Amino acid sequence: MQSNEMLEVARLALEGKPSDVRLYLAKLVRKARKEDPEYASKLEELLKTDPARSNGILRKNLSAEERNLQRDELSLLRETQSTAEQEPLLDSALEAQLQQILMERQHAKELEHKGLKPTSSMIFQGPPGVGKTMTASWLARQLALPLYVLDLTAVMSSLLGKTGSNLRSVLDFAKSHPCVLFLDEIDAIAKKRSDESDVGELKRLVNILLQEIENWPNQGLLIAATNHPELVDPALWRRFDLDVTFCLPREDNVRKAIVEFLGADLNEFSHLMDFLVDTQKGESYSNIKRTINRLRKLKIINPEEFENSSFKCIIPNIDGLSRQERISFAVKLVSDFSFPKQRAAKLLRVSRDTIRKKIGESQS
Ligand SMILES: Nc1ncnc2c1ncn2[C@@H]1O[C@H](COP(=O)(O)OP(=O)(O)OP(=O)(O)O)[C@@H](O)[C@H]1O
Ligand SMILES: [Mg+2]
Repeated sequence: MQSNEMLEVARLALEGKPSDVRLYLAKLVRKARKEDPEYASKLEELLKTDPARSNGILRKNLSAEERNLQRDELSLLRETQSTAEQEPLLDSALEAQLQQILMERQHAKELEHKGLKPTSSMIFQGPPGVGKTMTASWLARQLALPLYVLDLTAVMSSLLGKTGSNLRSVLDFAKSHPCVLFLDEIDAIAKKRSDESDVGELKRLVNILLQEIENWPNQGLLIAATNHPELVDPALWRRFDLDVTFCLPREDNVRKAIVEFLGADLNEFSHLMDFLVDTQKGESYSNIKRTINRLRKLKIINPEEFENSSFKCIIPNIDGLSRQERISFAVKLVSDFSFPKQRAAKLLRVSRDTIRKKIGESQS
């Protein structure tokens, strides 16, 4: 170790920043790998012995002021500890993929005998609100590893000149002990490539990632996520061990999601169940959850008006429907969802006779 490096380590240690010491040492390991491999591996071993769980360099409930002060390197990394045991609802193919990842870790030794390694990097793609972040967190919990989240949009909006070293620091830190590193919005790197002035720096970022993904330590897990797979550099894409596609829920999972989100209130809403499933088809899990939570709150705040207000919540444009649309909607409620004609008529401001006539016409 050179004297200036020793000074830096001493400074960080005396300032009471154990995690910064760890980070700095991780940088030294990288540097020493070529010059003094033995020293590098000893240092690396030392780094592994004491995983930094509570971390001064990580952003944790900081005030805005503190955040600004910490806008250097790792302040962009968040350690998330989810206490909720909630398991994401996933379609069966995706569930099988994730189960295999967990099983591979349990059979790591047998895999190794055959020259195989457990999956250590993957990329999640899919629309917003379908469980990419939630699944990363769930996997970390299943593997009993800490989860670190790095939002690459945030990294990009930090001082661009420093982005490369920021990213490298984060990757070094995550590699220094077993953990799950979640790189959210990885397309942020590819997306900005169109901006000419950034090209050099962005190329460097992609190159840094390219190098790291392939050599990600087997004990850890690197997960990248994107809503825009088409923007991600193909060279980057194929470096990941696994490509996982998240989709909007199919009807059976829409129903399961509604049941789960209603929780203890399920009985109070059971008469609306089929209607809810029908109206929430094509929505993301997070949109469904938002609608269900609004309904549950409406029921508490104003139970007398619930009938009306719940409809406005489920069908926000109900007031903008034309008379013809209101009539067909009322008919649908009666014939498909067994709503009493009187209720359907009141909700949609049409007469019971009109509904009856329409149903008669469609049956004859
Ligand atoms: N598959 C799922 N099962 C159960 N709940 C879900 C699922 N997906 C999303 N949710 C609910 O929606 C919330 C947001 O989901 P999450 O943050 O995982 O979405 P995402 O796919 O990461 O979206 P984005 O692309 O916007 O980051 C979750 O906290 C959870 O409440
Ligand atoms: Mg997310």
